Amino acid sequence: HDLGVVAVGFSGGQPKAGVDAAPMALIEAGLIQQLEEDLEMKVAFDGQVHNYSEMVPSDDPPYRNMKQPKFVSAVTKEVSEQVYNHAKIGKLVLTLGGDHSIAIGTISGTARAIRERLGREIAVIWVDAHADINTPETSESGNIHGMPVAFLTGLATEEKEDMFGWLKEHHRLSTKKLVYIGLRDIDKGEKKILRDHGIKAFSMHDIDRHGIGKVMDMALGWIGSDTPIHLSFDVDALDPMWAPSTGTPVRGGLTLREGDFIAECVAETGSLIALDLVEVNPSLDEHGASDTVRAGCSIVRCALGDTLL
Ligand code: ARG
Ligand code: MN
Ligand code: MN
Ligand code: MN
Repeated sequence: HDLGVVAVGFSGGQPKAGVDAAPMALIEAGLIQQLEEDLEMKVAFDGQVHNYSEMVPSDDPPYRNMKQPKFVSAVTKEVSEQVYNHAKIGKLVLTLGGDHSIAIGTISGTARAIRERLGREIAVIWVDAHADINTPETSESGNIHGMPVAFLTGLATEEKEDMFGWLKEHHRLSTKKLVYIGLRDIDKGEKKILRDHGIKAFSMHDIDRHGIGKVMDMALGWIGSDTPIHLSFDVDALDPMWAPSTGTPVRGGLTLREGDFIAECVAETGSLIALDLVEVNPSLDEHGASDTVRAGCSIVRCALGDTLL
């Protein structure tokens, strides 16, 4: 398979430094080499971790409660183009984040490319402890990494071009084509949004009740076969026991195997068109950083087709 890699060293969607160093940590742990040698993929990677520092606006005050709105808007717009350019020529796109705000770029990029190339809508599997579906108005933190899904689905909109107004209809995702797995820390406003829009979500409670095997059958059944799938994987979906180095850890999460299993099931569909791995922050819980990076590499390998036997 032909793979395009985008390395997004971006931390502006949340307040903790260090998540921008994740792409380099993942690459130094041998990720790209493993994909080329073990999985025999043809990898297109420009060899650089983009840091978008030249895009820092001179003045970027909060707007509608969003922190650094112009910076995040500009970077995600750029990421959207980068991902689109790979996806429009049929490449599977791997994006290494970065905080989860970058999914505004990655998913808008694939949604547009798949519409243009195949005339189809994409589905998104969002694996996360959090729903990241706050609107600027429901957010308690103002951190944009808690809002990407609201902008992508059009639940949040904004006219101003430099405040996500660049997001147009062809970039968007239907709330009916979104499935969550691993949720366990949802804000009050988010719960109402999930309920009001009938969004499909499998929480940790559902995984405890049915087991991850049944949950994956139900999640993929909801999407339907032959739908192009974008998998957006926040490493904080894993329990902090396995992935402690992340900005917003929540106990009671997925085991390492459950995380890999989700990725393996998506790989088995043959419908994966893009994968994001986000929120690895090697500078938090430094003793756990190598475990967190290894967990991230493993999820990527599994999603891209590595099998146990
Ligand atoms: N719900 C919280 C907020 O909106 C936490 C979001 C965490 N998001 C993440 N991508 N880790 O601020
Ligand atoms: Mn999260
Ligand atoms: Mn909370
Ligand atoms: Mn997230």
